Amino acid sequence: MAEASAPGKAILLGEHAVVYGEPAIAVALDLRTYVTTVPRPGGITVHGEPLQDKLFPHLRKAVEMTGARDVELRIESELPSSAGLGSSAALSCAALGALLRSRGHDVRASEVARLAFDIELATQEGRASPTDTTTSAAGGGVLVDSAPGPGLLWSFERNGKRWHLHRVPVPELTLVVGMSGQRGRTSEQVARVAQVVQRDGLGTVRELGDIARAGAKALAAKDQEELGRLMDRAHAGLRTLGVSTPRLDELVQAARAHSYGAKLTGAGGGGSIIALTREPERVVHVLESKQCPALVAKLTPRGVEAAP
Ligand code: PMV
Repeated sequence: MAEASAPGKAILLGEHAVVYGEPAIAVALDLRTYVTTVPRPGGITVHGEPLQDKLFPHLRKAVEMTGARDVELRIESELPSSAGLGSSAALSCAALGALLRSRGHDVRASEVARLAFDIELATQEGRASPTDTTTSAAGGGVLVDSAPGPGLLWSFERNGKRWHLHRVPVPELTLVVGMSGQRGRTSEQVARVAQVVQRDGLGTVRELGDIARAGAKALAAKDQEELGRLMDRAHAGLRTLGVSTPRLDELVQAARAHSYGAKLTGAGGGGSIIALTREPERVVHVLESKQCPALVAKLTPRGVEAAP
């Protein structure tokens, strides 16, 4: 038997702008996906059923990459799916961890990040950045940038694009995640932003990049008030890019009453908001009063981990 787990993520700053070479910051959330493998003759099964590629495309790829055979996979997750919290990246990383361990290999974050990114690329028709997968594999805070700098973890080049993934120190923060209940498709939102950029130029994208750069400094200075202000500004920029919705605006507005700042997180068009706060219960309460399921998410330095 082999076991591994990996965390979900939230993008603190820089989503969408990162597609245009600006920096983004993501943090690993203390909500994990666990995968256990049990040797069992009869091919690859998931909870006793033959692995269905349509249901679990990430697992199929992970099985192919690790050359696993005759294995039963069991999955448990604390992460809601389709909420922009990186549940598919966490599943890829945890499955790779468990499968590599079951084959007698060491589980290294750098290798899991690389393989999990290739899984995302294969399952999302080439439209993926390594943000989610590296944050899940490495844990903690991750800065994605187009140039290498201090704290470099690793770099990837795919289809002529290059990403440099860095470690950013993150103080203890409490985020409340509010799930809008709307489903936002990342590829649609990225296409929408492309239209706005074509019409209006790169001004807002550059501004979002500047906000993410300032965010890295605020994190280093453990300045939650400044970080909150930057999150508010980032939400305004994302609105200008057309990826917010009236529902997301309403939730962000409601959360701000008890927060340093709040914004949509990830691709937008639905998905989740995050609020940085010292009063998580009050924020959860105010969101729930708007029929928005909410949870308190602590951050974690723990990335992919395999049981010894
Ligand atoms: O949908 P998410 O939470 O993985 O966020 C997508 C982030 C974007 O910047 C919109 C796209 C990307 O690939 O970086």
